[in-house]
Amino acid sequence: MIQCVTARRIPHVAMVSAFALAVMLLMPSFAHSERECFESRKGYSKVVQKKIGDERVNVKCSNTTGAVLWWGDPYNETVDMGPMPVEADYSHEEAVIKERTPQLKYYMPCTVCHNGVTVPYPKDKNPRQITMHLDIVGEDSMDLKHGRLAIWCLDCHNPTNRDTLISHRGEEISFNQPMRLCGKCHGQIYADWRDGIHGKRIGNWTKGGKKRWWICTECHNPHSVQLERFQPIQPERAPALPRGMTSAEHDDIRYEGGPGGHH
Ligand code: HEC
Ligand code: HEC
Ligand code: HEC
Ligand code: HEC
Repeated sequence: MIQCVTARRIPHVAMVSAFALAVMLLMPSFAHSERECFESRKGYSKVVQKKIGDERVNVKCSNTTGAVLWWGDPYNETVDMGPMPVEADYSHEEAVIKERTPQLKYYMPCTVCHNGVTVPYPKDKNPRQITMHLDIVGEDSMDLKHGRLAIWCLDCHNPTNRDTLISHRGEEISFNQPMRLCGKCHGQIYADWRDGIHGKRIGNWTKGGKKRWWICTECHNPHSVQLERFQPIQPERAPALPRGMTSAEHDDIRYEGGPGGHH
């Protein structure tokens, strides 16, 4: 029995070290190539892994899922959240977000086509069959997968300035503030989000500390929430132990003369 286990282990160990060697040989080329990962919503929360400073990278990404595992700089490529009408934590600290417009496929901007001439302004808010953007909203615009047929495109999109979304009072809302749009119908969730119960923030947790806030469309696809509320990231195994380490209970390990300076 013991023999059997040992026999199976030798080739395994050999394979692992061959793999480690291959990875080490490839390392320098990895350092130069730009790698694209995603933060929360695949395809719509892209981030390019790059060096920030000498030692750090902006994000570390999973080799299995491509999802971001860790942020080297929580504020990398963020901008101010912009004016928010309701008071919350963001009113008393520095609040930043990632812009949505660079993530959109059709944003060039939208008014390149939706200028009233190239594409006429819609006559009313009544749902109709459209032939454009089916890659975004699904094959049948009369059966939009959000709101169980109670809402349509123009309850969210501004009919006369397509570069913006629209409030109940007809005020323009930036694509970078979807929380103000979603909040007009999902008041309770909007309140939870402002309180930090719904959604996600990272950054400095001292009182008044700067934070990055995740905004609604970084997690939810507004055109398909009825089919899939949220796309969970595939769970994966805990990372392998570094070579030479046999147990994860390394907290008590003390090195003679401190950590030897190897990384
Ligand atoms: C390449 C041109 C083009 C671009 C760019 C474009 N659209 Fe459109 N869009 C159209 C056309 C054409 C229609 C009408 C299709 C039809 O009637 O069958 C349309 C229809 C729509 C509709 C349905 C309501 C309506 O006005 O008919 C929405 C909502 C919409 N577009 C949003 C956007 C948004 C948001 C952007 C930018 C992120 C955008 N579009 C960019 C061409 C474009
Ligand atoms: C519940 C609100 C809501 C409804 C209803 C809605 N949209 Fe949108 N739409 C949005 C938001 C918010 C965004 C920006 C998404 C993001 O940040 O990822 C968007 C983005 C878009 C884009 C740009 C996507 C891209 O990747 O370029 C198009 C095109 C579009 N919508 C068309 C439509 C059409 C056509 C309809 C109706 C058939 C519709 N939308 C219905 C809220 C809505
Ligand atoms: C114009 C009103 C309106 C707006 C704006 C709106 N929603 Fe909704 N949403 C609805 C309705 C109606 C439902 C369906 C509620 C039900 O039937 O339980 C819904 C359902 C949902 C659900 C649950 C999916 C399901 O059907 O189980 C999610 C998630 C959601 N919305 C997210 C968003 C996000 C994110 C935004 C902003 C981008 C947004 N909504 C904007 C009206 C809206
Ligand atoms: C960090 C990711 C994240 C952000 C940001 C986020 N949500 Fe969610 N939301 C979730 C998850 C996860 C669920 C649970 C999904 C499920 O039930 O499968 C959820 C559920 C929901 C639901 C359904 C709730 C119910 O009980 O039926 C709505 C509506 C919703 N979110 C709206 C919003 C709105 C509006 C915002 C912005 C103000 C927002 N979300 C921001 C992750 C997020």
